[in-house]
Amino acid sequence: MKILSGTALAASFEEELKREAVALTGQGIRPGLAVIQVGEEPATQTYVRSKVKTAERVGMHSVDHKLPATASQAELEALVDRLNRAPHINGVLCQMPLPPHLDGGRITRLIDPLKDVDCFHPYNMGLLALGEPRFLPCTPAGILELLTRYGIAVGGKHTVVLGRSNIVGRPLSILLSQKGWDATVTLCHSRSDGLVELARQADILVAALGQPEFVRAEMVKPGAVVIDVGVNRVADPTAKRGYRLCGDVDFAGVAPKASAITPVPGGVGPMTIAMLLRNTLVGVRLQHGLAEA
Ligand SMILES: NC(=O)c1ccc[n+]([C@@H]2O[C@H](COP(=O)([O-])OP(=O)(O)OC[C@H]3O[C@@H](n4cnc5c(N)ncnc54)[C@H](OP(=O)(O)O)[C@@H]3O)[C@@H](O)[C@H]2O)c1
Repeated sequence: MKILSGTALAASFEEELKREAVALTGQGIRPGLAVIQVGEEPATQTYVRSKVKTAERVGMHSVDHKLPATASQAELEALVDRLNRAPHINGVLCQMPLPPHLDGGRITRLIDPLKDVDCFHPYNMGLLALGEPRFLPCTPAGILELLTRYGIAVGGKHTVVLGRSNIVGRPLSILLSQKGWDATVTLCHSRSDGLVELARQADILVAALGQPEFVRAEMVKPGAVVIDVGVNRVADPTAKRGYRLCGDVDFAGVAPKASAITPVPGGVGPMTIAMLLRNTLVGVRLQHGLAEA
């Protein structure tokens, strides 16, 4: 059984990204990423810190815009508008979910599609669905890179994706089913009948549900490749912080049965951040006419 380490792969990606960021900076274009967070949810703060730190490590300019949880829709929209027009910013993302009084859909649509490094804008999602993506959504892109760089063949394989969110399961299922990837894809959700039987048929099983250790050994075909997207905080009084992190897969039970598996933490998560920075470079190329918009 092979451990698919996102930490190791993301580190080698960072080297590639750094080379490109340094070359662009040498031409007078320092790539810039702006991250907006509203409120002080601890998990969000951790993700944002990690994005900003990694961006700086690869030589990008990054700005973390923190708004209070009481910020109004107008204030948030004014900030997005300012960042859309800022020439030194090539990528803009707003950390979701937003507090309930704010309209996240409007913000997603307001971000300039050429700076939409999360690839949430309907225009970019449309291009993705047509097989002509400009940006790739970060988590699905990270999973595709993990599969590719660990030499896992996807063509013709039955891939079962558990979870149909617009940021993970649905775009991943679209990408994997397209020409080039050529997987046979089954997309499951909370209303799927016979989910356990479907999961058991998977050559490649992707768990993106947000349900701690949902996938147990009996749901996995011997020799399957298992990709665990979940990041869950589970109360644990013996842990230093009072909680432990776990995925959507029961790693201890499933790993001995799988041919390859991603750990949590250290699997999909670091790859998601690497892909965000790759998208920031795509943003630079689009905005400077170095790639076709
Ligand atoms: N590692 C990373 O970089 C990364 C990035 C993004 C997300 N994540 C993690 O990945 C997980 C999923 O995130 P998300 O944003 O995609 O979640 P989400 O928006 O909450 O969507 C969860 C999906 O799982 C389905 N689901 C939930 N419980 C189920 C059950 N018992 N049986 C079958 N389907 C079920 C839901 O079905 P319905 O549609 O029917 O409700 C929904 O489609 C979370 O743990 C999140 O923290 C990690």
